[in-house]
Amino acid sequence: MSNAELNELKRKYVANGAASPATAFADHAENAEVWDADGNRFIDFAGGIGVLNIGHRHPKVVAAVKAQLDKVMHTCQTVMPYEGYVRVAEKLSHLVPVRGHAKVMLANSGAEALENAVKIARAATGRPNVICFDGGYHGRTFFTMAMNGKVAPYQTDFGPMPGTVFRAPYPVDYHGVSEDEAIRGLMMALKTDAGPTNTAAIILEPVLGEGGFYPAPTSFLERIRAICDELGILMIIDEVQSGFGRTGKMFAIEHSGVEPDIMTMAKSMADGMPISAVVGTDKVMDASGPNSLGGTYTGSPTACAAALAVMEVFEEENILEKSLALGEKLAKRFNQWQARYECVDNVRHLGAMAAFELVSDKHAKTPNAELAGALCKKAREEGLILLSCGMYGNTIRFLMPITIDDSVLNEGLDIIESCLESLV
Ligand SMILES: Cc1ncc(COP(=O)(O)O)c(C=O)c1O
Repeated sequence: MSNAELNELKRKYVANGAASPATAFADHAENAEVWDADGNRFIDFAGGIGVLNIGHRHPKVVAAVKAQLDKVMHTCQTVMPYEGYVRVAEKLSHLVPVRGHAKVMLANSGAEALENAVKIARAATGRPNVICFDGGYHGRTFFTMAMNGKVAPYQTDFGPMPGTVFRAPYPVDYHGVSEDEAIRGLMMALKTDAGPTNTAAIILEPVLGEGGFYPAPTSFLERIRAICDELGILMIIDEVQSGFGRTGKMFAIEHSGVEPDIMTMAKSMADGMPISAVVGTDKVMDASGPNSLGGTYTGSPTACAAALAVMEVFEEENILEKSLALGEKLAKRFNQWQARYECVDNVRHLGAMAAFELVSDKHAKTPNAELAGALCKKAREEGLILLSCGMYGNTIRFLMPITIDDSVLNEGLDIIESCLESLV
C-alpha cells in the first residue's frame, strides 16, 4: 500500500491521540536508514526514540529472534519459565552498577519498568511517596504520567493524577537552575510535601531525555545519594533513554560512580523488541511477596533472545568506544554551527547523547521552539528523521544508531546545515 492509502486508513481507524502526525509509513530499514511505503529513503537520527543504538535489524539480533521463533514464542514465564529470562537476569545483574548483589525483574515497556520500580520501593520501605524532577519523563501509565515533570501533552486530558508524587527542580544551569537551588528544592519538597519518613524513593534520569538532554552533575547525584542514605529513601535511576551505550558507558550513572538502589531500563536493550527491566539490590528486589510482580508477556522469549544478542554485540563491536567517538564527531559539528549561527547555542553531549538548543537571542538564552519545529519539519522533507525535545521544546536531540556509517552521518548533518542555512 502507498503512503496515501495508509494515511487514509490511519485517518479513518486510528484514535486521534495515538495517530502519528508523520505521513511517511516505514516499509523497511537497515542500520541508520529507513525506506517508506513509496520507496523514499530517510536517514534516521531518531532510532525510534533511542531504541536502535545498534541500528535497525542488527543481523545478530535478527538471527537470535528467528532462532527463538523456531523454539518457543510464549509460555508466560510464571506458568513455565524458560532459559532466556534467567540468562538476561544473570547478565544484567553483572552489568548494572547498583549496590551489592543485583536481582532483576523483566517487563514490556519503560513505563511498566517504572511502575514496578515504585511498587518494589514501596514494598521495601513501607512508605507511599516518591519525589521526581521537573522535566523528567517516565511514561504514559497513570503513575508514570504523574511522575512526568511536564503536563502537556501527557496529563492534559487525563486527570486527576495519583497524589503521592512530589516534584523537585532539576539542575539546568543554562536555564537558571543551579545545583544548589535544585538541592534546596528537593529538601523543601521533602520537608513541606512528601515528608522524609513517608518517602519511598527519589527517582531521576541521570541525563534528562524528553526533558532536554541535560546531564545531571556528578556532585548532584552524589548529594542525592547522601540524602537517600541519611533518610532511608531509595535512589531510583531511570536509564530507559540514557542506557545501553548511549552515553559512552553501558549506563549513564556509571560516569558518576554513584550506585543507586534500583535502575530501570528498556529501549535499546533489545534493538526494537519490546522488553524492559528493573534491576536492584537483592534485599530491595526481594521485598514483595510471591507472584506480586510480572504480567502475561513480561520478558517474552523472543525479546529475551534479542536482549542477549544485543549484549553480545556490545562486547564484540566496541559499541561504547563508538558511542564516545560519535559524540565527539557530533560535538565538533555542533560547535561549528554554534560559532556560525546566532540561533544555535548550548551544545552539549555525554558520549553520543548529544544536543544543542535553538534560541532567538543568545545573550538572553530565549528558547525558540518554533524554529526547532521548523527545522525538524524541513529535515524530514529533505529525507532526515530528526527529533526535538526539552522543557522549552527548543532542543534538537540526536539518537541515531551508534553504528551509523560515517558517510550516512555526514549526509544527515549536511542536511541539517542546509536546513539551518535556509531557515535563518
Ligand atoms: C527516561 C524514560 N523513562 C521512561 C520512558 C517510558 O518508556 P516507554 O515509552 O517504553 O513506556 C521513556 C520513554 O521515552 C523515557 O525516556
